[in-house]
Amino acid sequence: MRTVGLILFCLLFNDSVFAGLSGCDDLSTIAETPAVDMSTDIQPIFEANCTTCHGPPDPIAFMDLTHGAQDIVAVPSFQFPELNRVEPGTVSMSYLFFKINCNGQLSGNRMPREAPPLRLADQALIRDWINQILIFKDGFE
Ligand code: HEC
Repeated sequence: MRTVGLILFCLLFNDSVFAGLSGCDDLSTIAETPAVDMSTDIQPIFEANCTTCHGPPDPIAFMDLTHGAQDIVAVPSFQFPELNRVEPGTVSMSYLFFKINCNGQLSGNRMPREAPPLRLADQALIRDWINQILIFKDGFE
């Protein structure tokens, strides 16, 4: 799955779909955190940085980040529907990750909007969470 995603990413990249992405923070020196948990590791990052805008009653971009994975995993981006917000298991195909990792965007601004970028450690946790999502027949975990 991850390999297929990477191959797709390279093909798309050559096709310049990702040409707008630039100034992405380098997380390669941050080791993978094993067993990242949505509710205890990721949800607090969203609550601290995102949910004032992406929360009830009228979440911006129709994306509510107050309830975990529901609005993001395997859900197409509103701005850039060619990509899912979070592609399970493949950070390199996940629009939400680009939104927090890169200055130059495919569409709109880097997130969190009107605030400094997320700490590299938090970006890396989101990276690891996405890469660790497993898909099952009846959903994802
Ligand atoms: C101050 C308000 C604000 C905050 C805080 C904020 N956003 Fe956004 N977000 C927006 C706006 C406005 C847009 C649409 C315009 C743009 O992209 O600049 C958007 C768009 C997005 C999109 C695109 C959604 C789609 O389906 O295409 C993603 C992903 C996103 N934000 C993620 C985040 C994350 C993750 C955080 C926290 C780390 C965050 N945002 C914090 C206002 C905000």
